[in-house]
Amino acid sequence: MTQLTSTRKDFLSILSFDPVDLERCLDLAAQVKADRTLGREAPTADALNGRHVAMLFEKASLRTWTTFEIAIRELGGSVVALQPDITLDRREAAVDVARSLERWVDAVVVRTYSHRQLEEFAGAAPRLRVINALSDDEHPCQALADCLTLRERWGSLRGRTVAFVGDGNNVAASLAHAAAMLGVHLHIASPEGYQLPHAAVQRATSAARHGARLRLFTDGVDAVAGADAVYTDTWTSMGQEAQTEIRRRVFAPYQVNEGLMALAKPGALFMHCLPAHRGEEVTADVLESSASIVFDQAENRLHCQKALLLMLLAHNVGG
Ligand code: CP
Ligand code: NVA
Repeated sequence: MTQLTSTRKDFLSILSFDPVDLERCLDLAAQVKADRTLGREAPTADALNGRHVAMLFEKASLRTWTTFEIAIRELGGSVVALQPDITLDRREAAVDVARSLERWVDAVVVRTYSHRQLEEFAGAAPRLRVINALSDDEHPCQALADCLTLRERWGSLRGRTVAFVGDGNNVAASLAHAAAMLGVHLHIASPEGYQLPHAAVQRATSAARHGARLRLFTDGVDAVAGADAVYTDTWTSMGQEAQTEIRRRVFAPYQVNEGLMALAKPGALFMHCLPAHRGEEVTADVLESSASIVFDQAENRLHCQKALLLMLLAHNVGG
C-alpha cells in the first residue's frame, strides 16, 4: 500500500504543500494519467468510494469544474453540485456554509473572489477539506497542471526559465509559488500598477529552492530573453470586467505575438491557462502554433486534480 495522504487539511495555495508534497502530487498525477486507460481497473478507481465532494463556484468555469467532476467520478466518489445561488456571505455567512457542509461532505471545491474569505471559510470547518478552484489571489490547481505539463516536455524543471507576460494576477502568483519550490526561474513582465503583489513575491522568495529566482520586469522583451517558455493570461480577470477598456489600453504592449516569441529561446513553448482572447493577450498564430501546449495544460488539470483529491482524501491506495 502506498501512503498518499497529505498532512494538510486544505489546498488553498501551492504553499499549502511543502516541496515534498508538491513533487509527490506531480508524480502521482503522472501515474494516474498513465493508468487512465485502465478505466475501472485503475488502482485508484475506488479510492474515493463513499466520499462526497461538493462544488461551490461563484464564477464561470469550463476546465476546472469539468475536470474536478470527472476526477471525482473516476476515483469512485460522488459529486454534489451546489446550486449556483449558494454563495459565500450573501444568503448566509460563509462560515455557516462551511459548518453546514462539514456535516455532510468530505471536501468542497470552491471558486470565489476573496482569498481571505476562502481562508476563513476553511478555518471554520476543521473536518472539511477545502480546495481552492481559483480565488482573486491564487489559482493553485492551474499551477499543478502547468508544472506537470512542463515536466512532460523537459523532464526535470530545475534551472529552466519561464517568462509570464501580462497581469500579475492569480495565475501568475500560483505559478510563482510553484516555480520557486521546484527550482524554476520565473520572469514576470507587467505594466506599473499591475505587477505581482508584494506579498506573493515575498512568499515565493521565501519558498525558493534549488536557486530558483523570481524577477519582475516592466518590459516583455526583457522578460522573455533566455526563456524556455512564455506564459500569458487574460488581461481582465473575472470580477474586473468594469476595467476591461482601460486594461486593453494598458496591456496592449504586452501581447504575446510571433515577434515576442522569437526573442525567447529557440524552441520556447507557449502557455496559457485559458480561456484565451485571440488578438488581445495572445495572437491567434501563437496560440495555434506548434510551440503552444495550452491543451496539454488543460488536459493535465484532470490528472493533477485527481492526484490532489487522492492526497487530501484517500487514506491508502493499493499499489
Ligand atoms: N484555466 C481555468 O481555470 O479554466 P476555467 O476558468 O474554464 O475553469
Ligand atoms: N486570471 C483569470 C484566470 C481564469 C482561469 C481569472 O481569474 O479570470
